[in-house]
Amino acid sequence: MPNNIFYTLQKSSYLDQKLQAYADTDYYPFHMPGHKRTDKLMLPSPYSIDITEIDGFDNLHHPEGILKEAQMRAADIFNANSTFYLVNGSTCGILSAISAALPRGGTLLMSRNSHKAAYHAAYLRELETIYLLPSVTEFGISGSIPPAHVAQALEEFPQTGCVFITSPTYDGVVSDIQAIANITHAHGIPLIVDEAHGAHFMFSEKFPAPALRCGADIVIQSLHKTLPCLTQTALLHVNSKRVEESLVKRFLDIYQTSSPSYLLMASMEKCLRFMQEEGLGQMAEFTQMLSHLYKKTESLRRLKIFDKASCTPENCFDHDFSKILISVGTTGLTGKELYDSLLQTYHLQMEMSSGHYVTALSSLMDRENGLKRLFAALDDIDHKNRFSDLDNPDQLLTTEMIYQIPKPGMSISMAMEQHTELLSLKASTGHVSQEYIYLYPPGIPLVAPGEIMTGKLLHTISLCQEQGLSVEGLEDMENKKIKVVKM
Ligand SMILES: Cc1ncc(COP(=O)(O)O)c(C=O)c1O
Repeated sequence: MPNNIFYTLQKSSYLDQKLQAYADTDYYPFHMPGHKRTDKLMLPSPYSIDITEIDGFDNLHHPEGILKEAQMRAADIFNANSTFYLVNGSTCGILSAISAALPRGGTLLMSRNSHKAAYHAAYLRELETIYLLPSVTEFGISGSIPPAHVAQALEEFPQTGCVFITSPTYDGVVSDIQAIANITHAHGIPLIVDEAHGAHFMFSEKFPAPALRCGADIVIQSLHKTLPCLTQTALLHVNSKRVEESLVKRFLDIYQTSSPSYLLMASMEKCLRFMQEEGLGQMAEFTQMLSHLYKKTESLRRLKIFDKASCTPENCFDHDFSKILISVGTTGLTGKELYDSLLQTYHLQMEMSSGHYVTALSSLMDRENGLKRLFAALDDIDHKNRFSDLDNPDQLLTTEMIYQIPKPGMSISMAMEQHTELLSLKASTGHVSQEYIYLYPPGIPLVAPGEIMTGKLLHTISLCQEQGLSVEGLEDMENKKIKVVKM
């Protein structure tokens, strides 16, 4: 019988009881949300303040009072022309921004390592998509988007109406947004930056420059990912007239719930007030603690921590060091084994594992004790685990494999409208997929609808599965069958 907390938790089948039991454990969160399950920013009892737009309160879809003021204060803090509160996460911000920036059937130049919301916007608005491949770093994670590639793609596809870049990535890699904005604007089109993982950049010089300061036209940030705010909270900033604000509003109206939660909006307001009043000081303490942790990890012999110093400006323009990337190095472990070991033996919950590394997300709400526990666990694993000096190169899951772009057969929306047949994954080579297959997290597609299945892709998918990574997207939960366009 397993002798750990998961056994106990599995026994309770009610959500509240299971959540409470988990909250009572010593599991430490190196994952979102950024408040790290601390209640430093206390709110009244959730039930007592859970309202929508009753008398005396404002309507998020037609703000005239307190919500209008709160959004204006947010715009002031981030130095944006205008800012919108989002209660459906960055997801609805990305959907709205892309929908507003392009007419139906327009052409979107987007980084391939974009969140699925960008692909969904392409589907809903029947867009043609052209992809920018991120470069690859020595550490084996996907790097930044080279500005020269943006320039080249815009020359090659002059019909492009908008550029969409994810920066920072889930791994904290930042692209040269200023250079990309200059190139994009020289073509007279807007740049949207998915900065879902970078809402904290504004509050410390130790982090990369925020996209709003680098000329992006629309920036979307999840407050819940890196700041002390409740899950689902995010902001959309509009910073130029290259995208019509009235269109952004129209699409926010469509994609956001008509019953926005005041609990979430109060959490956003409180978070921003806290960041404005105490953010600088708290960030200074946090970044100092983080630097100390990085320094200590230099003593690790086999595990390797991502260090921006080993990158070139071309493959990693900048990095957000609050995302701690721990490579299995020469331990002989896979990323998933390292992740499981940290969870089961040390009660440290990571944000995610990939083929050869795990990601620990830190935030200004982390406690010194948490970072100490992380280092102690890494030090222990570094000394204790089985080691191999030789990796089997055939079995390594590399970033290049994950971000290969299968050949397009048709657009996402066209594929979605076709008659389909259900094939075994193995027999799907050469067929046009009608489904997504993505690694979750972070939800970036290995294949998107309209793309042609290949043997190489199937090899990557089976490697991901062998390494215990979560492959999702197919209707068939066992990942054995795929819907393809009927020939
Ligand atoms: C890069 C990126 N963009 C957007 C999102 C969506 O953010 P949200 O969960 O706030 O909807 C995510 C979610 O993980 C993400 O990783």
